[in-house]
Amino acid sequence: MIITIDGPAGAGKSSIARRVANELGFEFLDTGAMYRAVTWGVMQRGIAWDDVESLVEFADAARLIWQDDRIYLDDQDISEEIRTPQVTSHIRYLADPPKIRERITAQQRRIATGRDIVTEGRDQGTEVFPDAHCKIFLTASPEERARRRQRQLAEKGQVITVEEILASQNQRDLEDRMRPVGRLRAASDAIVVQTDGMSPDEVRGEVLRLVRECV
Ligand code: C5P
Repeated sequence: MIITIDGPAGAGKSSIARRVANELGFEFLDTGAMYRAVTWGVMQRGIAWDDVESLVEFADAARLIWQDDRIYLDDQDISEEIRTPQVTSHIRYLADPPKIRERITAQQRRIATGRDIVTEGRDQGTEVFPDAHCKIFLTASPEERARRRQRQLAEKGQVITVEEILASQNQRDLEDRMRPVGRLRAASDAIVVQTDGMSPDEVRGEVLRLVRECV
């Protein structure tokens, strides 16, 4: 059984998907981490960002393993390395070309084969698992998402203004909405959950209620 949770950056998809998976005894897949891992690998090898052929070749050969909430590239655990701003700002070179998405999509389907899984990303309900049993599109206004992100960072001791977060988040949303294949959008049969003004517990409760109705 497959449950997809798509939505824009900072909508809280990962934490909600993880909690829903725990409650249902399903596995959880963070597909953003896969794009990040391949991006990190390209940076390590110094492949030029505009050398699409080499990028495709690398994405093809990359052995991505997602296990117990950790991501491995060719057996190396890079779960922390993939979260840097440098990785984030280069992901589009891997997420834009349809040929590379094809490879990563194939890996996502392979990971989900034979499993009960909650998978989160941008295109899970539209391109990767169009026949998923349950599709959620989790979203909130850009301002609300930026405020939440600022609070999270402040808890980790990182001081950054809401305006700065909003600027980079808007840029990422724009890139994610514009790509030719796998762009950020709700599937026509997805349930849209607009989370402005809801606490994390309320969002979790609502998503669980919706998911339980369709599983
Ligand atoms: O979810 P996260 O912020 O980690 O995703 C990082 C980036 O990876 C997104 O901004 C998007 O460009 C790309 N991505 C994608 N398709 C997915 C998941 C992530 O293109 N299914």
